[in-house]
Amino acid sequence: MIRTRALYKDYPMGRDKLHVLRGVNLEVRRGEFLAIMGASGSGKSTLLHILGLLDRPDRGEVELEGQPVFHQSQARQDRIRNKEIGFVFQFYHLLPELNVEENVLLPEMVGNSLWNWVRRRKTTRRQAREVIESVGLEKQIHQRPATLSGGERQRVAIARALVQRPKLLLADEPTGNLDSVSGKVILDIFGRLNQAGQTIVMVTHDAKVAALAHRKLDLIDGKIQ
Ligand SMILES: Nc1ncnc2c1ncn2[C@@H]1O[C@H](COP(=O)(O)OP(=O)(O)OP(=O)(O)O)[C@@H](O)[C@H]1O
Ligand SMILES: [Mg+2]
Repeated sequence: MIRTRALYKDYPMGRDKLHVLRGVNLEVRRGEFLAIMGASGSGKSTLLHILGLLDRPDRGEVELEGQPVFHQSQARQDRIRNKEIGFVFQFYHLLPELNVEENVLLPEMVGNSLWNWVRRRKTTRRQAREVIESVGLEKQIHQRPATLSGGERQRVAIARALVQRPKLLLADEPTGNLDSVSGKVILDIFGRLNQAGQTIVMVTHDAKVAALAHRKLDLIDGKIQ
């Protein structure tokens, strides 16, 4: 489903360069639940952002279903990012002035023309309600993020990531900011999604969290070991 070819990424560090990714080769098969582990600062978020087209590598390529994504037009890349990839962050990144339903609808509003949005609004709202129910937040649908617990906020973020039915779900330390009970709820949701066929790549430094995935890889010295 997704494959990387020798990804390199540097960051400027004073007069020097920090070589974060030094030739990352990685393959994720359809339906897989993969955990990527590594120490703090090892480049896990950097790698995940590149897989999610939120950042570009300095060298190398990401292939989604055999297609090199960074060689496509910007418009095509934007479309892939919006439609085919769902992203869950450690700190939720919800919009505080929008309620649960509106936060979940956001990718649809951004990804469609006004005309399309108006035409598809009914179907889209039904889909949003379905994913909100699937993460158990139907009672909170009209609440704003400030009135939700951390675990509930993360469930909103998962619903938002899923509303477009992405091929690939990427999660960066999705339980890193939660207590163990709320964290378990999130991981149960991931397990259930994966059983239903969702491909998931999750980054974590917690071995217990990674143990729930099918396969674990370590990012060490800028490479997959
Ligand atoms: N935009 C940036 N500019 C400069 N340096 C950066 C930038 N983003 C990340 N870095 C550096 O690159 C290295 C890898 O960062 P990254 O966030 O990918 O690590 P990580 O493995 O996700 O760590 P953590 O487990 O703490 O989240 C770190 O040393 C970080 O300081
Ligand atoms: Mg990180």
